[in-house]
Amino acid sequence: MATIWLVTDPGDRSLALRVMHDSFGSGSNGPTLFRHGCEIMAKLAPHRNVITFHDSGKVSGREYCVLQYVEGLNLREMNVREDPMLEEILSDMIIDLCAGLVHLHGQGIMHLDLKPENLIISRGGILYLCDFDTAQAIPDTPTKFDRKSGTPLYMAPEVVNGWRFDQRADVYSFGVTVYEMLTQLKPFEGQTSKEKLTNQLNPKYLIRKPRKFNPNIPALLEELILKCLEFVPEKRYLTMGMVARDLYKVMGVH
Ligand SMILES: Nc1ncnc2c1ncn2[C@@H]1O[C@H](COP(=O)(O)OP(=O)(O)O)[C@@H](O)[C@H]1O
Ligand SMILES: [Mg+2]
Repeated sequence: MATIWLVTDPGDRSLALRVMHDSFGSGSNGPTLFRHGCEIMAKLAPHRNVITFHDSGKVSGREYCVLQYVEGLNLREMNVREDPMLEEILSDMIIDLCAGLVHLHGQGIMHLDLKPENLIISRGGILYLCDFDTAQAIPDTPTKFDRKSGTPLYMAPEVVNGWRFDQRADVYSFGVTVYEMLTQLKPFEGQTSKEKLTNQLNPKYLIRKPRKFNPNIPALLEELILKCLEFVPEKRYLTMGMVARDLYKVMGVH
């Protein structure tokens, strides 16, 4: 949806300029999503694991925003490059991802597009959540939202199916992302994305236990991941705060 430019301000500070792609003309809902994402980011209190927002506007008919620039790679790029740093910092990244989401949920916001591409890892190994185009305020009760984008294999079944949902959709995407971080696999079997999605949307499908592929995963972490990936939202953790409580126990974080 956007192109990111590394820019410097008059004070020689490096910043990221996020400009909406040309293909999203005024006829599409692109500008609305982009602006909505900016409004949400602008209201967020700063957090170590969330990209900081500085400014937004429109120039020559194109939406833009100015963000903190993080020198690094997104998690997908790190995976593709088989970056040796990845294994070293894996547990820190899971904790960072959880902490960023706890902060978001604590501020009444759900991200709704969690996936490796939207997680930037700095050179120092700190994870930052980015891309708030699809974020929404957490509703009081599960609600139907008009969702136009997202990546189905990371999305909760209730979101893909167009049913009512709430912050537990993020809990699910956290589960898919962590599963993949630890096994390099999606939780759902299939030769193609379509086959995987069919399994993902089957309420009776039994997810392959991640320890089968990576025996170093602690049993309690496996349990936590599988609870995040429950088909029925009521069986998942209610909030990321609750995920954090269990995760910190497993990881020995105090
Ligand atoms: N503030 C930033 N600093 C450094 N890199 C960024 C920043 N924001 C985004 N990126 C990089 O650009 C990619 C695309 O940005 P994103 O905001 O996710 O836009 P979109 O997915 O809509 O194209 C991200 O996956 C990340 O690699
Ligand atoms: Mg993105």
